[in-house]
Amino acid sequence: MDPRVYALSHGLFVAALLLAGAAGPAHAQRVYDPATTPRAKFVADLAPYPGPSYRTKDFTIIKQDDWYHLFYTRVRRFQPSHWNASVNEATFGHAISRDLENWQSLDTVLTVHPGEWDAHHLWSPTIVQRQGVTWMFYTGVRDSQMSAAPGDWIPRTQTIGAAYSTDPMLEQWTRVPQPVWQPCASNGLPGVSWAVCNPSIYRGTADFRDPFVLPPTGPGQSWLLYYTARWRMDPWNHVVGVASSAAAQDAAKGAKVYEAQKCSVCHSIGGKGNTKGALDAVGSTLTAAEIREWIVDPVGMAAKHKATRKPVMTAKYASLPKEDLDALVAYMASLKK
Ligand code: HEC
Repeated sequence: MDPRVYALSHGLFVAALLLAGAAGPAHAQRVYDPATTPRAKFVADLAPYPGPSYRTKDFTIIKQDDWYHLFYTRVRRFQPSHWNASVNEATFGHAISRDLENWQSLDTVLTVHPGEWDAHHLWSPTIVQRQGVTWMFYTGVRDSQMSAAPGDWIPRTQTIGAAYSTDPMLEQWTRVPQPVWQPCASNGLPGVSWAVCNPSIYRGTADFRDPFVLPPTGPGQSWLLYYTARWRMDPWNHVVGVASSAAAQDAAKGAKVYEAQKCSVCHSIGGKGNTKGALDAVGSTLTAAEIREWIVDPVGMAAKHKATRKPVMTAKYASLPKEDLDALVAYMASLKK
C-alpha cells in the first residue's frame, strides 16, 4: 500500500461490547510461579534515584526477519501518572531481541508534537505489516491544565494517528501529519456520530484510543480500525467502535461499476472474464491518473501506447457519473500484485 493516509470514513457502528469490568471467578486467579512463568520481558535501564529514567507501559511486539521489535510508551519513573504536561508518556521507545529475553535498547522512534493533536502523550502503539510497509497506529493525546496546580493536567483530547516504516530494522519512522481517526469532525475527518465529542466539558473528548487494525484481506476490502471510545447514550462507560477505510469503500463500489459496465467482456480479474486483458496488477503498473485516462479516453491511450488488441476498448465510459468513475479508478488502483 502506498504510504498515504487513508481517510477512515462514515461506515461506523458501535460493536456493543461494553467494557464494564466484572470480577472473575476465584478459581481463575493465578499465582505467579517463577518456574513456569516465561521470563520474556524487557526492563528499561534505570538511573539511580532521583535521576530521570523510564519504565515501559503500553507496548506492541512484532517479529521482522530475525528480530523481535518492542515499541513502548515511556513512563517517567517515580511519576507514574500519565498527565503532568509533556514529560510523561511522550515518546515511543524501541528495543530488539532475538529470543524475547535479552533485549537491546535502540533510539526513540516517535515523539510528541507541541501544538498539534499529539502534543503531550503517545499511547497504545499497535503494528500492522502490509506489502512491505510496517504501519504503527497509536493514540495521540493533548492535555489541558485544569487549575494553577502544576500537577493538575488531564488528557483532554485523544486522537488516533499513524506512522510508517520501510526500514528493515524499523528504526526510521515517518509520522503521518494528519490524524487517522477522531471523535469530533475536523482535520478533514467526519467524526463519529455516536461517540462523545464535547471539548468544552470535563473529559469531553478524552477516551478515544487503543487502536487495533486489521488490514484488507483482498482487493476492494477495507482496512478496519477498532478503537475504544465513549458512547453518547451511556457516556460514562466505554464501547468498542470500528471504522473502515474510505479508499476501500470506494474500491468496493468500483467493483460493482466494473460488473455493471461489463468490463469483463474484454478484461479479467482473478482469472474471471477475458484473460487477454488481465487487470490483476494494473494498480502496480499504472498510476491512478493513467487508469482514469484509459477509461475516459481509450482511443487516445491506445494510440499513445500502440495497443493493438482487438476489439478496441469502448469509448463510452467518459459519460459515467463522476462518482462511478472515481470508484472505478479506486478499484483498478487497488489491484496490485
Ligand atoms: C471492447 C473491449 C473492452 C471493453 C468493454 C473494456 N476494455 Fe479496457 N481495454 C481494452 C483494450 C483492447 C485495451 C488495450 C490494452 C490491452 O491490449 O489489453 C484496454 C485497456 C484498458 C486499461 C489499461 C490496461 C493496461 O494494462 O494498460 C484499463 C485500466 C482498462 N482497459 C479498463 C477498462 C474498464 C474499467 C472497463 C469497463 C468500464 C473496460 N476497460 C472495458 C478493451 C476493452
